[in-house]
Amino acid sequence: MPKVTTKQLWEMKRKGERIVALTAYEYLFARILDEAGVDMILVGDSLGMVFAGYESTVRVTMEQMLYHTRIVASAVERALVVGDMPFMSFQVSPEEALRNAGRFLQEAGAQAVKVEGGEEVAEQVKRMVEAGIPVLGHLGLTPQSVYQLGGYGVQAREEDEARKLLHDAEVLQEAGAFAVVLEKVPGELAREVTERLHIPTIGIGAGPHCDGQILVTQDMLGLFERFRPKFVRRYAELGRLAREAVAQYSQDVREGTFPSEKESF
Ligand code: KIV
Repeated sequence: MPKVTTKQLWEMKRKGERIVALTAYEYLFARILDEAGVDMILVGDSLGMVFAGYESTVRVTMEQMLYHTRIVASAVERALVVGDMPFMSFQVSPEEALRNAGRFLQEAGAQAVKVEGGEEVAEQVKRMVEAGIPVLGHLGLTPQSVYQLGGYGVQAREEDEARKLLHDAEVLQEAGAFAVVLEKVPGELAREVTERLHIPTIGIGAGPHCDGQILVTQDMLGLFERFRPKFVRRYAELGRLAREAVAQYSQDVREGTFPSEKESF
């Protein structure tokens, strides 16, 4: 099956077709998402919180990201697989960013990488793109900076912050990013960025005007329940279903009704 390419995503923006993106960290969901026709699968460093149970994404390492990306990339046939560059894997220098980004493609089988930040990472983005590595930008709420931002609130509400975000988006486009994630920013600002850029914007908590949308899969399926952002629409309640199933199994084992004769050899 032919892979989705960054060029196809540009073409989708040109034609006004919405881009569908979700996260995956492991084989089962990677298969489900790919078979359902999702265009882009991000192996997000959100796995630090959702998969590993950390307080933030800051502790996630290159080794963890490569491990999960390898599994997802080998499960996916059609979607574009993007590996999320963890904290400290790209900030130090363009050389280090390039070397680490290369590992996502060469060792883990991703087709692209994502980096958080604007103008301050433009040199890194340029360097990776020059080496043939497609880069997805990420602006607005950038969770790797949570200790500096002081939480996970809506970003760029003030005019000077909005102007900076617009500028950062243009700088990332200029540096060669193939698309930009806009996380938790006002919808009108996301609309302006989307209209100004010729590359696609992928929104998460950024309103309805972006060229595509992404959510953390475990959020939209009701599996990650530690907090529930307003922007998440729950399409299933798998956490509740799983708890009910486990409770029923426990009761059956305790009462001796599982396994039955039919389930025995
Ligand atoms: O880490 C992640 O999953 C992300 C998406 C939520 C955009 O950055």
